[in-house]
Amino acid sequence: MARILLTGGAGYIGSHTYLGLVEAGHEVVILDNFTNARDDVPERLERISGRPATVYRGDVLDRALLDRIFADQAIDGVVHFAALKAVGESVQKPLDYIHTNVGGLLTLLAAMEAAGVRCIVFSSSATVYGDTDIQRIPEDHPRSHTSPYGYTKITGETALEQVAAADARWAVGILRYFNPVGAHRSALIGEDPGDIPNNLMPYIAKVATGELRRINVFGDDYNTPDGTGVRDYIHVEDLAHGHVLSLNALMETGESHAVNLGTGIGSSVLDVIRAYSAACGRDLPYRIVARRQGDVSSVTALPDKARAVLGFEAQKTLDDMCRSSWAWVSGQIANR
Ligand code: UFG
Repeated sequence: MARILLTGGAGYIGSHTYLGLVEAGHEVVILDNFTNARDDVPERLERISGRPATVYRGDVLDRALLDRIFADQAIDGVVHFAALKAVGESVQKPLDYIHTNVGGLLTLLAAMEAAGVRCIVFSSSATVYGDTDIQRIPEDHPRSHTSPYGYTKITGETALEQVAAADARWAVGILRYFNPVGAHRSALIGEDPGDIPNNLMPYIAKVATGELRRINVFGDDYNTPDGTGVRDYIHVEDLAHGHVLSLNALMETGESHAVNLGTGIGSSVLDVIRAYSAACGRDLPYRIVARRQGDVSSVTALPDKARAVLGFEAQKTLDDMCRSSWAWVSGQIANR
């Protein structure tokens, strides 16, 4: 058992990881400013886990608050999610992204160093592989960025690598997520994007609930089996489990790692629409529109390193992802 600080622990991936860590027997403390999380998440986490949640409302850029948490909570390790994550928005507001994502990480690292806590799992993204079309991307693929968001993730990874290289007491887990989707099996927590989602699965979910009319498929002339974009969708509960394994490995071995968290399986936009249609019980309407600027044809993980280093293997299928998403969003509608 360890005591873990989850920054951004009330958000989509953070809240699922909270439950994974609690299930694995850890004590978890959440720090979240709730800019992109619902106020009732802590209460829902308590309902699911049957235990009260310790939550600090505040910002990862607030050094005094971080110092207080480390002084009060005897933290052994940190999982750092708190960050801005919309690629398009980052192009409009690069300074906000650099301030929150890079500044937030640096503030956290300084507070950790001062408190003598030197174990951190960092929420990174396949976006660090840039504009690549290679099949099943390995971790040693060169990093490059195509957006300020990508820049902040590469900068964060690099800062962590430098810290770990300079001081062997630091243990750093860098987790590069592919496309996390789906919701918790309880259907009490899940992704809750704003009005018009940018990402495919939450957009489809809103078509399934009737909030949006039809899905726009961004291009059907890619070099893929059906012409639509292919991605490596990973169930958020599998992803959460990857964080538990990463943290356990860091605490057991003290060895840093950087791994992909994906399934290694590519699904096209039309595959996802079909699977979601089956999950919600009706054929969801869609139309083919122009390609979205900046999209590439296919992004899938080579998942071998996560298996070798962490023993991680994604368990859930695309059907599981769609069914859990539908259970979550349809439950939300029913409760309105
Ligand atoms: N797509 C549509 N219609 C939509 C939305 C998306 O056809 O309304 C297509 C896209 O063109 C793409 C696929 O669905 O082929 C997936 O798109 P998403 O927007 O869901 O996800 P991306 O792969 O573009 O980006 C995601 C995250 C990024 C992260 C990246 C890592 O949003 O933060 O994965 O690979 F950097």
